[in-house]
Amino acid sequence: MAMTTGGRGNWSGRTGFILAAAGSAVGLGNIWGFPNQVASNGGAAFLIVYTLCCFLVGYPVMVAELSVGRATAKNPVGAFRKLAPGSFIMPLIGFWGVIVGMAILAFYNVIAGWTLSYVLEEFAQFFGSDTTAALLGATDGGIKSAIFALVFMLGTITIVAGGVSGGIERATKTMMPLLIGILLLMTVYVLTRDGSGEGLRQYLLPDFSKINTGLILSALGQAFFSLSLGMGALITYGSYLDRKMNIPQAAGFVTLADFSIAFLAGLLILPAMYVAQSRGVQIVDDSGALIQSTGLVFNVLPELFHQIGGITGLVVGVMFFFLLTIAALTSTISLLEVPVSYLVDEHGMNRKKASILMGAIIGAISLIIAFDPSLIGLFVTIFNNFGLPVGGLMICLFVAYYWKTEKALKEMEDGYEDISGSAFASIWPIFVKFICPLLIALVFLNTLGVI
Ligand code: PHE
Repeated sequence: MAMTTGGRGNWSGRTGFILAAAGSAVGLGNIWGFPNQVASNGGAAFLIVYTLCCFLVGYPVMVAELSVGRATAKNPVGAFRKLAPGSFIMPLIGFWGVIVGMAILAFYNVIAGWTLSYVLEEFAQFFGSDTTAALLGATDGGIKSAIFALVFMLGTITIVAGGVSGGIERATKTMMPLLIGILLLMTVYVLTRDGSGEGLRQYLLPDFSKINTGLILSALGQAFFSLSLGMGALITYGSYLDRKMNIPQAAGFVTLADFSIAFLAGLLILPAMYVAQSRGVQIVDDSGALIQSTGLVFNVLPELFHQIGGITGLVVGVMFFFLLTIAALTSTISLLEVPVSYLVDEHGMNRKKASILMGAIIGAISLIIAFDPSLIGLFVTIFNNFGLPVGGLMICLFVAYYWKTEKALKEMEDGYEDISGSAFASIWPIFVKFICPLLIALVFLNTLGVI
């Protein structure tokens, strides 16, 4: 994509876009968020509901976002302005996305900062400097979390300001297979340790009595978060999409890739929790509740790397946290790209200025969270669990009843010539018009106690 200063451009071909969109989707949501949610929400029951949310709600919304993006070649606010000329209300859907995205990036920076500091922690541990390792390997609030969160924000600003999308694509291309490889290796290692069976049971054997509204809402929010939906990130990425791209197919690939990596992370982390527990790491309190869910992955995995020990432990540990850092970076880039493309398109600001301005505002919120990480739970509840599905609901309603699915399908004809008459063309509109909005609305109404 020649997304040079101030200008718009395209991805460097088909794989370029898929890589960038997959890079946006795959991130902390898969490896930090998903296993956390599974562990705190009753294991396999969550996995089942999450799977349904990804494919029945997430995928159709992704197709809708990409179509709106490519049809308008605009940022989320501009996209709705263009499709609904003169309307005051419709562009608010885009504004909603900009605000929700900024809030998500604010807490995301803090967790991404931890992954970065854990790369260094693994080195410190290897070289036996326990105090440095303890300092770097902490997920509590304070100056260390603040510094690393800001470093992460700065890295993201630099990339978005330069518009060096070639970098995103290249980083994703190497990162993704390596990440899958290392997850697989670690999973095999963990599954052969004592204690892993209990984790595997929790992850794969559902206890349906655990399904309740809270669980469904969390699963829905997690699916939107992990697939980068509901806030216009994929409208923005779709706006740089060339006309030869088959949108339904690309969205299918991204959904599947994102889901698979989350599934794999669960297969590793749930058993790893119990292996760690059998070695004395406390992960649950007396009532069986998770002790500290935001730090879970960071408590459990280093324990594993230290068990492997020696140079192998170091290499695996460093590689893992490094890959996770890159995965997080390709996601923060897409999060910052939304407000930046808004300022560039709608206010004529240059890309560099817009990146610095937005980065500074978001970085300031990250600082507050870095000093009090207990806020992360609150942000997840408000912005992931409510903000993103509400955004998704509004996007569905807009595409279904204002822009109309026929127009969206027409847009998708480019890249998918024989779409009319296909099964996709008869099924997707039903999801966007009825099934997705209804499911999202039901979950909300139930959560609010209305039904
Ligand atoms: N999908 C990213 C992840 O799983 C986070 C993200 C959410 C990115 C929303 C962009 C938009 O880590």
